[in-house]
Amino acid sequence: KTTIREIYKETEKYLNNEVVLEGWIRTSRSSKTFGFLELNDGTFFKNIQIVFEESLENFKEVEKLPLSSSIMVKGILVPTPEAKQPFEIKASEIEIEGYSTADYPLQKKRHTFEYMRTIAHLRPRANTFNAVFRVRSILAYAIHKFFQERGFVYVHTPIVTASDAEGAGEMFRVSTLDFHNIPMNDKKEIDFTKDFFGKETSLTVSGQLEGEAFALAYKDIYTFGPTFRAENSNTARHAAEFWMIEPEIAFADINDDMQLAEDMMKYIIKYVMENAKEEVEFFNSFVDKGLIERLENVVNSDFGRITYTEAVELLQKSGEEFQYPVEWGMDLQTEHERYLSEKVFKKPVFVVDYPKEIKAFYMRLNDDGKTVAAMDLLVPGVGEIIGGSQREERLELLEQKIIENGMDPEDYWWYLELRKFGGTKHAGYGLGFERAVMYITGMTNIRDVIPFPRTVKSAEF
Ligand code: 4AD
Ligand code: MG
Repeated sequence: KTTIREIYKETEKYLNNEVVLEGWIRTSRSSKTFGFLELNDGTFFKNIQIVFEESLENFKEVEKLPLSSSIMVKGILVPTPEAKQPFEIKASEIEIEGYSTADYPLQKKRHTFEYMRTIAHLRPRANTFNAVFRVRSILAYAIHKFFQERGFVYVHTPIVTASDAEGAGEMFRVSTLDFHNIPMNDKKEIDFTKDFFGKETSLTVSGQLEGEAFALAYKDIYTFGPTFRAENSNTARHAAEFWMIEPEIAFADINDDMQLAEDMMKYIIKYVMENAKEEVEFFNSFVDKGLIERLENVVNSDFGRITYTEAVELLQKSGEEFQYPVEWGMDLQTEHERYLSEKVFKKPVFVVDYPKEIKAFYMRLNDDGKTVAAMDLLVPGVGEIIGGSQREERLELLEQKIIENGMDPEDYWWYLELRKFGGTKHAGYGLGFERAVMYITGMTNIRDVIPFPRTVKSAEF
């Protein structure tokens, strides 16, 4: 037995020899005496053509197989120099494994991505998605490889948590109560703040706070896990459930943090370009013509750096008609982020030192008293891909900030203790995994890089 990937990779080895493949029928046509099937076995986004003749014992049956029936094929791999595909298999035996039916939805070669979202369970069978989800897998591996090679410890932070790591109130509540079976009148009697074994809990928005606890023991750690945001953002870049990578480094400041982010981005892009070469070429041909050039540019350039204040001035002077006019103190919108990375820098750029009012409570206050040591990495095509900061290590300032943000220091007692018992400067960032997949594939909607996406108004699967 072999695979289609093997055959494309090591054609010489297989040519004019007998091969055995298992897969699903993608297309089928036949005449009275012979027929063609295109087979895909999932190991590669390309198909292989199977020729079968009347002499085949079950010719009549094979000829009528509906698309997506699964078969085992035995035959000789022969070169076809005049044809579009470089080789085909002359079948000597075809064994039917599983029948499909005539109403299989993927009859045509091309369907819109929107339509494919409605059949998420069949979507990985289409070439584009085969390539997307393979790149997703390879990218995940590259990220682990990068951090493990540098000695970072992988920490599993909790999914169910009592703290709001971003302090933004965008949490999905987790409850042990069966709301549907509580009689209407009793509902007001219940203390909804103590519903998970006596505590109010939610799905985590970030593993950062727990990550900090481990960084202050191991020095360098990273998390890589699912995170959840109950934000009502129905955009092409926001999901309610997404994966995040969050390194945290102790004895390090915001510059060390940016250096790590830049090294990581270059490493993972290079890794994917080398280890999913055909897939990246496929995306470059069919999804985004400038992809490879852009990725090469990332690997070979030094990322830009600009302060928030400079960025605001630049945007104001740009003469662009933005939907949201720019003024100091506002959060940058996607249009501004993309303008900076696509028009001004034409490469990834870090924006640093944001106004403290628009950033999370844990970020370190700068000496100007107005800004915090925050950094966002903006990339062409996507906008913000990384958000990070140096953390406030000064106990009093952190406590004060928690109160200012309307949060209760009691809830964060353990987080505050990290500053009490040998606190040190430390920093970290979060890479949105799906945004990274989008960036490396050129796919423009986050729904198309998540196997079963959970976004505003969609959790059918
Ligand atoms: O900027 P964010 O909110 O930062 C944090 O969560 C920090 N705790 C990270 C840290 O310093 N350890 O999120 C980080 C990244 C964003 O830059 C973005 O790429 C991604 O996570 N992200 C989302 N991706 C998809 N859907 C959403 N709703 C996202 N929200 C954030
Ligand atoms: Mg952010």
